[in-house]
Amino acid sequence: MGVVTLTGAKNSVLKLMAASLLAVGTTTITNVPDILDVEIMAELLRRLGCDVSHDLPAGTVTITVPEAPDHRADYDLVRRMRASICVLGPLVARVGAADVALPGGDNIGSRGLDMHVDGLRQMGAEVTSEHGYLLANAPQRLQGARIWLDFPSVGATETILMAAVLADGETVIDNAAREPEIIDICTMLLAMGAHIDGVGTSTLVVEGVDSLSPVTHATVPDRIVGGTWAVAAAITGGDITVRGAHAEHLDIALEKLVTAGATVTVLDDGFRVVMQSRPKAVDIVTLPYPGFPTDLQPQFIALNAVSQGAALVTENLFEARFRFVQELARLGADVRTDGHHALVRGRATLSAAPVEATDIRAGAGLVLAGLVAEGQTTVYGVGHIDRGYAGFVPALQSLGAQVVRDEIAD
Ligand code: UD1
Repeated sequence: MGVVTLTGAKNSVLKLMAASLLAVGTTTITNVPDILDVEIMAELLRRLGCDVSHDLPAGTVTITVPEAPDHRADYDLVRRMRASICVLGPLVARVGAADVALPGGDNIGSRGLDMHVDGLRQMGAEVTSEHGYLLANAPQRLQGARIWLDFPSVGATETILMAAVLADGETVIDNAAREPEIIDICTMLLAMGAHIDGVGTSTLVVEGVDSLSPVTHATVPDRIVGGTWAVAAAITGGDITVRGAHAEHLDIALEKLVTAGATVTVLDDGFRVVMQSRPKAVDIVTLPYPGFPTDLQPQFIALNAVSQGAALVTENLFEARFRFVQELARLGADVRTDGHHALVRGRATLSAAPVEATDIRAGAGLVLAGLVAEGQTTVYGVGHIDRGYAGFVPALQSLGAQVVRDEIAD
C-alpha cells in the first residue's frame, strides 16, 4: 500500500529531445524521467553538435542547438537505443540530410522503417541505404504531401510530422497515430510556432513554416509506468495511488482491472487501484491507441498467470513480445502461445526461480510475477528495466515489496 508519483513518458521525452533540433537556440524539457535512454539521446544530440545538460534528479534537460547541426547518428548509439531513429525527420527538415545507422534487423523498405522512408520520399527526400546506414537527402526544402499510413505507426507519424513542420506547403498525414505521446509532441511543436490541425485525431494537417523557436515544455506523464503500478496493486492484492497521472490515458487498462475485480478510483491528479480478492482472468487485445497498449501486455499476462480462470491475449503489434512467456513459465505460469495469441490459464501460485528480462516491459512483467511467486525470484538483465522505469526498486520498496537490487545478479 502506498503512493507513487509518475514522471514524464520515456516514449515522449526522447521525441521531444529530437524535436529540439528543429529550432536554433535553447530548448528546455521538464518532467524528464531519470532513465538511461534519456542519457543516450543526450549523447546523440551532443554528437550532432548540440550542447546538452541535464539535471535528471530535478527532471530537466536543456538543449542548445547550433545554426548548423551535424547529421550523423552513429551505430554505437542506435544499437543501444532503437528510438534514435527519431532524429531522422528533424535532421532532414532542418539540415537537409540525415545519416542514421539502421537499428538491428531492419533493412530499408522492410517492416519497421518502411513508412518513415516512404513518407520522407513522398516529401521529396532521396533515401537510400549503404553500409548499414540509412542516408536521407533533401538539398531542396521538403515539399508538403498527402501521406496515407498503412498502419497508425507511432514512429512514422512522428518522423513525418517533424519533417512536415518545416516543409514547404501543406502535409496531410492520414491514419496517423493518436497516442498521448503524439499529442504531447504536437503541443510542443505548436508552442514552437508550428501549424498543425487535427491534433489527437487520425488526420494531421500540417502547414509548413520557415522556422521554429525553442520553448520550455513539460513531458506528458508516463502512462505505461502508471499502468504497471496499477497492475502491481492488482497482482499483489494491494492498494496503490498513482499521482501525477492522466487516468484517461489508461481508460481500457483500468477498465480491464475493474473486470479483474479491482476497485479503481479516478482522482484529480491520478488514480487509485485497490484489489481485495484473487483477480479474475481478463482477455486482452493490443491495438494502437486508444486500444489496449502493447507496452502493458506482459504485465497483464503476469496478472492473468495468477488469476482465476483463463484469458486469451492477442498481440497485434510486436509478436516478439511473447518471448518473455518462456521466462514466465520458469515461474510455473501456464501460458501457451500460437502466433499472435497467448492462452493464459491462471494458477493459484507461482514458484520463484531465476529469470531473464528480455526487454523493458518483459522485465516489468517478470518483477510483478516475482512479487507474488513463492520464494525468492532473481530477475537478470535489469538493465532493460532501467531503460524505462526510473527508481523502480526504491518505489517498490516504499510500497512494501521485498525487493533488493543486486548489481552482481545483472
Ligand atoms: C513506439 C514505442 C513502443 C510502443 C509502440 C506501439 C517508442 C520509443 N516506442 O514504438 O514502446 O510499443 O510505439 O505503441 O516510442 N511498422 C512498420 N513500418 C514502419 C513503422 C512501424 O511496419 O515504418 C510496424 C512495426 O514493425 C510494428 C508496428 O508497426 O509492428 C508498430 O510500430 P510503431 O507504432 O511504429 O512503434 P514504434 O514507434 O517503433
